[in-house]
Amino acid sequence: MTTQIKLLRGRVLSFTAEPQGPDDTDAYSYLEDGAILIADGRILATGDHDTLAVQAAGAEIIDHRPNLLMAGLIDTHIHYPQVQVIASWGAQLLDWLNTYTFPAETRFADSDHSAAMARHFYDQLIAHGTTTAVAYCSVHRASADAYFAEAERRGMRMIGGKVLMDRNAPEGLRDTPQTGYDDSKALIADWHSKGRLSYAVTPRFAITSTPAQLELAGALVAEHPDCYVQTHLSENHAEIAYTAELYPQAPDYLGVYEHFGLLTPKSLLGHAIHLTPREIGLLAETGAKPVFCPTSNLFLGSGLFDDAGLRGHGITNAIATDVGAGTSYSMLQTLNEGYKVLQLQGQNLHPLRAFHWITRGNAVALGLQDRIGTLAAGTEADIIVLNARATDAMALRMQCATTLSEELFVLQMMGDDRAIDQVYVAGTAMKPSDNAQRQQV
Ligand code: GUN
Ligand code: ZN
Repeated sequence: MTTQIKLLRGRVLSFTAEPQGPDDTDAYSYLEDGAILIADGRILATGDHDTLAVQAAGAEIIDHRPNLLMAGLIDTHIHYPQVQVIASWGAQLLDWLNTYTFPAETRFADSDHSAAMARHFYDQLIAHGTTTAVAYCSVHRASADAYFAEAERRGMRMIGGKVLMDRNAPEGLRDTPQTGYDDSKALIADWHSKGRLSYAVTPRFAITSTPAQLELAGALVAEHPDCYVQTHLSENHAEIAYTAELYPQAPDYLGVYEHFGLLTPKSLLGHAIHLTPREIGLLAETGAKPVFCPTSNLFLGSGLFDDAGLRGHGITNAIATDVGAGTSYSMLQTLNEGYKVLQLQGQNLHPLRAFHWITRGNAVALGLQDRIGTLAAGTEADIIVLNARATDAMALRMQCATTLSEELFVLQMMGDDRAIDQVYVAGTAMKPSDNAQRQQV
């Protein structure tokens, strides 16, 4: 079978390193009339249009000019069973979990419900330009099966796992140390490294796991060192106090996860807001990755993530939506709120670093920069098309934008799903329509 070769034409932006400042032009390549040559789900070449057009005999040419082509966006922390929890009013973390989240997650025992919600979940990711995410499923094995099956159907690179939780949760939402271990093991056998899928061992957080369960979670991590680990850390003061009561022998919150062998460079720690110096040192030492979830942290009133402080210790921070405590699926809106959270602390998120963060930066945090997050030849063809004039207000603002950085900042502050004109997953266009011109040569 011959594969259709595609040549995407547009303004092409791809990062090669983390920009060290707002004018660091060495950290990216930008082509005003660029193109990306794609076949078999991969990028064959990225370069000037006129150069690549010569190699593109027989290709379908898809002209996205004047829009901007970038790598697909990466969301490193999201809860797929919370698609109907987003925008639930009036509570902070522990009340919010008990009042809204746990009841909603109980319904994922039903595999039909899980499958239907997984379809909605992926529709939202695609609409918002997210081509890879790391998600929590519910406690039920069926929810994780539905999550991975739908990702496989769409050809997406996705990471996830069923949550382990054996206490402080309602009936119907608790496993046991042994069933949690056995179900995780079975899911790893069924899904991990299958095509573009990876498993994350997922103890929800210290409060919902007994020591016996965290012990077995540590065993899973030791037995499957190539799996990811995801959990929550130091999001909220009441959560931290309760964790200290439940684990009185631990030196601090992170010490709980340390004790059970859950901290590796593949560990993603959602929130990580209220940390002690010892915990910060331990993050630096183990290479575990804090995940900044700005819309969630503001929504639940959790606190302000100290990005610069952690980076100052050589820690690699990821960034994510955390839907359904997060209030938008959009990684652009996540940057918008992230910008404000950092402003409140006298820190600055310039647009080059912002767009690096949601593409190559999150790929680096996941150890996947050779596969996703850039437009380099040989990587997987997950690509988005960005329109900085998607709304009247954006178009008006763009009349006065003269630089790439200004355009990116308009997208960072005003962009959302309306600014995502098309999304390619492994080279296949996922949105039913866009503003491109198509032509066969
Ligand atoms: N901590 C434990 N579970 C959750 C969750 O579902 N969302 C958030 N934001 N924090 C958590
Ligand atoms: Zn979360």
